[in-house]
Amino acid sequence: MSFSGQLFDNASPDGSGERLSEGAVLFHGRLSEQAEAILEAIRTVEREAPFRHLVTPGGHRMSVAMTSCGELGWMTDRKGYRYTASDPDSERPWPPMPTLLSDLAGSAAEDAGFPEYRPDACLINRYRPGAKLSLHQDKDEQDYSHPVVSFSLGLPATFLWGGFRRADKPKRLLLEHGDVLVWGGPDRLRYHGILPLPEGEHPLLGERRINLTFRKAG
Ligand code: SIN
Ligand code: FE2
Repeated sequence: MSFSGQLFDNASPDGSGERLSEGAVLFHGRLSEQAEAILEAIRTVEREAPFRHLVTPGGHRMSVAMTSCGELGWMTDRKGYRYTASDPDSERPWPPMPTLLSDLAGSAAEDAGFPEYRPDACLINRYRPGAKLSLHQDKDEQDYSHPVVSFSLGLPATFLWGGFRRADKPKRLLLEHGDVLVWGGPDRLRYHGILPLPEGEHPLLGERRINLTFRKAG
């Protein structure tokens, strides 16, 4: 899906993606071939750190179920949003980030114009129909010079691509199975979110969408 009124070249530096704005590139279907291997990697993570519905500081139970891998994992509870080195449920370190995942994230970042990307956190979100993620900024990381890399698998979802204030009207784009979205540089702090996931049945994931977001958090 393209945006109208673009002022920039509509291609990523390596030509395989669609540039959404100066620091954001969407690679359609980039992961299609690796999807099963990625799902297997996620299964190894969830065996140690199962998906759970976290509670926001305001006391709201999130409709998206989450887990993490890497040196740091993102979490929220009544005390606030933050990264931790261990899973608060098991009190063990988060499972290591599978090399397959960090390699794929690094090469996507590079092709989007962010070389030498070494994520230390991967948040894994699981959406069932009806689950959503309200507009937010990813701003619990220490250094915003590193991009966020997002992988989408399973049912398609409408991604809200906002501005720099919550009130800015977001554009909408469809994120489908195998899509990779990279946002960094001047777009790093854009508001973004996911509309309630429509009902559906995906051949590989059934009634689910899985999204992974890689960050350099520490
Ligand atoms: C996120 O913002 O953490 C996830 C976005 C998505 O599910 O595509
Ligand atoms: Fe986010």
